[in-house]
Amino acid sequence: DAHKLLVLAGDGIGPEVMREVARIVHWMSAHRGLKLEITEELVGAASLAVHGVPIRDEVVELARQSDAVLFGSVGDPAWSHVGFDKRPEVAILKLRKELELFANLRPAKLFDALIDASALKPEVVRGLDLMIVRETVGGIYFGEPRGVETLPDGSRRGINTEVYTTSEIERVARVAFDLARKRDNRVCSVEKCNVMESGLLWKEVVTDIHKREYPDVQLSHMLADNCAMQLVRDPNQFDVIVTGNLFGDILSDLASMLTGSLGMLPSATLGPVRADGKRNALYEPIHGSAPDIAGKGIANPLAQILSFAMLLRYSLNRGEDADLIETAVSNVLASGLRTGDIMSPGMARVGTEMMGQAVLRE
Ligand code: NAI
Ligand code: MG
Repeated sequence: DAHKLLVLAGDGIGPEVMREVARIVHWMSAHRGLKLEITEELVGAASLAVHGVPIRDEVVELARQSDAVLFGSVGDPAWSHVGFDKRPEVAILKLRKELELFANLRPAKLFDALIDASALKPEVVRGLDLMIVRETVGGIYFGEPRGVETLPDGSRRGINTEVYTTSEIERVARVAFDLARKRDNRVCSVEKCNVMESGLLWKEVVTDIHKREYPDVQLSHMLADNCAMQLVRDPNQFDVIVTGNLFGDILSDLASMLTGSLGMLPSATLGPVRADGKRNALYEPIHGSAPDIAGKGIANPLAQILSFAMLLRYSLNRGEDADLIETAVSNVLASGLRTGDIMSPGMARVGTEMMGQAVLRE
C-alpha cells in the first residue's frame, strides 16, 4: 500500500533543492507513517550526459505508472545551442504531452512574513491564498485552422483558432471543483462569453457540471479582462479560478507577482483519471534550473518543498501532512531566516541546506 513516487531532480539547482525535500520525506516516513516507494531518475542535461536523450521512454513509462511525479527543473546553458530534440527542456514538455497533463494548478499563497515582497499594498494581499487552474492542452494555442497564409493581393494573415470541446471543459472544471472542496469551496470560472463562442460554451458547460455534480461548491463567473483587474484590486475575493489556456497563461503570471517571489511558488499539472481511479500528476516549482546560482548552495528550496506539500495534499490525500509543511515554512520565515532571493534588511541570510534544516526542525 506504499504510494509510488517518481523523483526527477533534473539540472542546475534542481538536485540541490530536491535534497531538502528528501530530508522531509525521510522524517515523515519515520514519524507520520508516510509509505513511499521512491524511484529516482535522470532528466534534462543530466540524462543527456549519460543516455544521450533528455528523457528516456522508460522514464516516461515510470511516470505514467507512478502515483505522482516530483519534478525539479531542467535546463543547462551547455545544451542551449543544440537541435530542439536535444534540449534539456524537452524532458518536461514530453512528460506533459505523454501524460496528457491538461490542468495546470498555480497557487498564489502569501506568507505573512514576506508581505513586503508583494507588488501590491500589504492591506490588499494580506492572507492571500488563491489557486489558478489553467487548461493546458487545448484552446487557441492548439486549435485548427492555424498558420500564416498569403492572400491573393500578396498581403499575409496569421490565424489561430480558439476551440474547446465539451469534454475538455468538463474535465478541467471537475479538477477545479474537486480542488475547491479541499480549500474554501469557491470556484470562479473565467472566459469572455461576451465576445467568444468558445467562451459561451465554456460558461454553459461549467454551469451544467456545477448543477449536476458540485451543487455544494459556490460558483461564480467573470470576464477575463475584469478578472485581471480584480486580481490586482482585491485578490482575496478568489479561492479557485478556472480558465482556458490563453487567459490562464496570463492570469497565472500576474497572480505569481502578487506574492513577489519566484523561489517560493510550487505548481502541479494533472492528467485524466486513469483506470485505477488515480490521476497522472506532476509537481514542480515554477522556477527553472537557475544556472546563475547553481552549485553555490544558495538556492531557495521552499518552492520545491511546497511542491511536495501540494503532492501530499492533492495526489496522496494527506492534507494534514501538507498543512504541517506549510506551517513549518511559515514559521521559519517568521523567525527571520531568508535565502538571498527573498532577503530583506534585518533578516538572517541562510543557504539552501540551512533553510531546509530549519523547515525540518519546525
Ligand atoms: P529561472 O527560474 O531558472 O531563474 C530566473 C532567476 O531567478 C535567476 O536569477 C535565478 O537565480 C533566480 N531563481 C530561480 N529560482 C530560484 C530559487 N529557488 N532560489 C533563488 N533564486 C532563484 O529562469 P531562467 O533563468 O529563465 O531559466 C534558466 C533555465 O531553466 C533555462 O534553461 C530554462 O529553460 C529552464 N527552465 C525550466 C523550467 C522547468 O524545468 N519547468 C521552468 C523555467 C525555466
Ligand atoms: Mg507564462
